[in-house]
Amino acid sequence: MRRTILVTGGAGFIGSNFVLQRVAAGDRVVNLDKLTYAGNLGNLVSLKDSPDHVFVQGGIEDEAFIAELLLAHRPDAIVNFAAESHVDRSIVSPEEFISTNVVGTFRLLHASLAYFRALSSADQARFRFLHVSTDEVYGSLSKTDPAFSETNAYEPNSPYSASKAASDHLVRAYQHTYGLPTLTTNCSNNYGPYQFPEKLIPLVILNALNGKPLPIYGDGQNVRDWLYVGDHCEAIALVLDKGLVGQTYNIGGDSEKANIDVVTTICSIMDEVHPAGAPHSRLITYVKDRPGHDRRYAVDASKIKRELHWSQRETFATGIRRTIQWYLDNSPWVAEVTSGDYRKWITANYEARGAK
Ligand code: NAD
Ligand code: DAU
Repeated sequence: MRRTILVTGGAGFIGSNFVLQRVAAGDRVVNLDKLTYAGNLGNLVSLKDSPDHVFVQGGIEDEAFIAELLLAHRPDAIVNFAAESHVDRSIVSPEEFISTNVVGTFRLLHASLAYFRALSSADQARFRFLHVSTDEVYGSLSKTDPAFSETNAYEPNSPYSASKAASDHLVRAYQHTYGLPTLTTNCSNNYGPYQFPEKLIPLVILNALNGKPLPIYGDGQNVRDWLYVGDHCEAIALVLDKGLVGQTYNIGGDSEKANIDVVTTICSIMDEVHPAGAPHSRLITYVKDRPGHDRRYAVDASKIKRELHWSQRETFATGIRRTIQWYLDNSPWVAEVTSGDYRKWITANYEARGAK
């Protein structure tokens, strides 16, 4: 059934992929985004003339503004992507992570509860608040530990993951105490179109393209579980439709890879599609490690597969090729996001690590 969904953070990487997918599927989206450095309306140009996408600039921490927005648009669901999302930035400047991820989520919940309470019982039965979270809340695994399941204890290690853990707890409390019909998803590392190139995969693709060093933190053996962004967005839509209120669902790619293997895979594909720079692996540069760097993440996604029949479409092999090709085909988007403030961050983060 066609829904009106309030999406927060819908101009960011995963949020914009979700908005594009939902509008294509027939939903109406009200997109609330503060447009921080990570928000980009360029991700949504294809919806410029769509009557099913309304963009509103604002922060989730502005409770009065959210209350007005909810009354004006009367959404059937809220999907909260809005967050500060980069671990390295959380180490340098943690405060923003508390303001948005903790206080912002709290205020969004508070405004949502007031809105929910004023709905008719039929509309209350339909309403959902879905909070998009991360596998990083579970902490770090050793080589032999089983993958994170929904029952793992929370052991966040970075200011980013601690702030996301706090937001997850608030969501849980609003369901348990006040009966707000919430759902939480905890996903592994995403990659794909529109990812801001501060994160490993787009950073390495663009540096390889430009003949710049490919910075590997520490020994390159940290492991992440990679999932193509479109598969994550489909999983979120499924949880929204069929998930049980109050539950959390882990989402992952069944695709654990050491960082050095991700980077060498990108280099080999770049050698094929951009042979002028080959061999791109000559650019690999080991740099100073991330403080508190989690060693391994792996997600056990059996619950969402078993209960909601979710499955991913892309393997890492197909998804990484599509992603590389997307960055090669979208040079105006790349040029826009890599100007200005982006350069300042790259200089600050990598000079401090001993890479130029
Ligand atoms: P992103 O940094 O690309 O986008 C975040 C978006 O939120 C941006 O558009 C930004 O402008 C907006 N925003 C920031 N502060 C805001 C505020 N106070 N009010 C309203 N909007 C605000 O992040 P992403 O990678 O797309 O991640 C989206 C969500 O998914 C986050 O909650 C993140 O924790 C979670 N997540 C990300 C990954 C991943 O691999 N990227 C994996 C699992 C979960
Ligand atoms: O696990 C889900 C999380 O994945 C999300 O919650 C976060 O929002 C998202 O940013 C991501 O966190 P990571 O820290 O795992 O992603 P990032 O791309 O920053 O780093 C991936 C791995 O690569 C990590 O082990 C650090 C390493 N790395 C990263 C960068 C930017 C490098 O070796 N070199 C780099 O230059």
